[in-house]
Amino acid sequence: MDQEEIWDDLVGDAWVRNAAVIDGHGRPFGEAAMDRLEPIAGRRVLDVGCGTGATTESLVARGAAAAVGMDLSSRMIAHARASSTTDRVSYRLGDVGALDEPGSFDAVFSRFGVMFFDDPVASFAHLRAQVAAGGQLAFCCWQGPFDNPWMSTALLASIPLLGPPRLPAPGEPGPFSLAEPDHVLEVLHAAGWSDVDIEPVTTEQPHPAGSPEAVARLVIEMAPPLAMGLAANPDKADELQAAVVEALQPAVTDEGVVLGAAVLVVSARA
Ligand SMILES: C[S@@+](CC[C@H](N)C(=O)[O-])C[C@H]1O[C@@H](n2cnc3c(N)ncnc32)[C@H](O)[C@@H]1O
Repeated sequence: MDQEEIWDDLVGDAWVRNAAVIDGHGRPFGEAAMDRLEPIAGRRVLDVGCGTGATTESLVARGAAAAVGMDLSSRMIAHARASSTTDRVSYRLGDVGALDEPGSFDAVFSRFGVMFFDDPVASFAHLRAQVAAGGQLAFCCWQGPFDNPWMSTALLASIPLLGPPRLPAPGEPGPFSLAEPDHVLEVLHAAGWSDVDIEPVTTEQPHPAGSPEAVARLVIEMAPPLAMGLAANPDKADELQAAVVEALQPAVTDEGVVLGAAVLVVSARA
């Protein structure tokens, strides 16, 4: 499956259906990356892999003059357009690699949208060409799977039922392709970015989906390796849901399902 098939056909509807909860889960990390762009007032920002658009709207709510959200998923872009509340935001459907507006942005932002490039050095160099001299880059990306039990708990629980998940090999596009700070530094330097700053950020908060049943349902339908496994084994849906709920039990507290999440917050200058 290519990235467009994954984010549109496979999980696009689930991301739209669960847009508010997914945004709630990613918000602390997206905000930490947006903080790197302050003062943002008056700037033109490109939001790479904007998904259903919550971050694109936040960029102008923080004072950006304009924000352009771009994503491969027609379903997510349709949702973003339908729920937008300002004409300072616009959305484009497609691959950011096809963007050809050299120097027309002051900053590039992304919440979990820059780990899926086939050729990361070429893609980050292309993004750099789209910002004006001195422009900025700020994004968050996941650390490794075992630093992210909100994802790995469900993946591990699925193995007895679905077999080993089809995870991208090292170097292939996927959620953990930028998990290593040294690799991020190497890629960004090779792409011509400078002043690279990488900060690990972790949280341990109740998952906004709520109950273990709701967390399990969400992760199974939004995470591409699980959604893929289930699509190949539709008869296993109930067993998979039960197995993930059981695996989540050690994380259940009075506050909810508390699962760790760990990202890198990265910024750089063109
Ligand atoms: C993990 S989701 C994150 C979505 C959103 N930023 C959020 O935080 O809710 C990754 C998104 O990046 C998009 N994406 C991946 N590669 C892309 C590319 N080359 N150009 C545009 N969008 C891309 C996918 O379509 C997907 O919606």
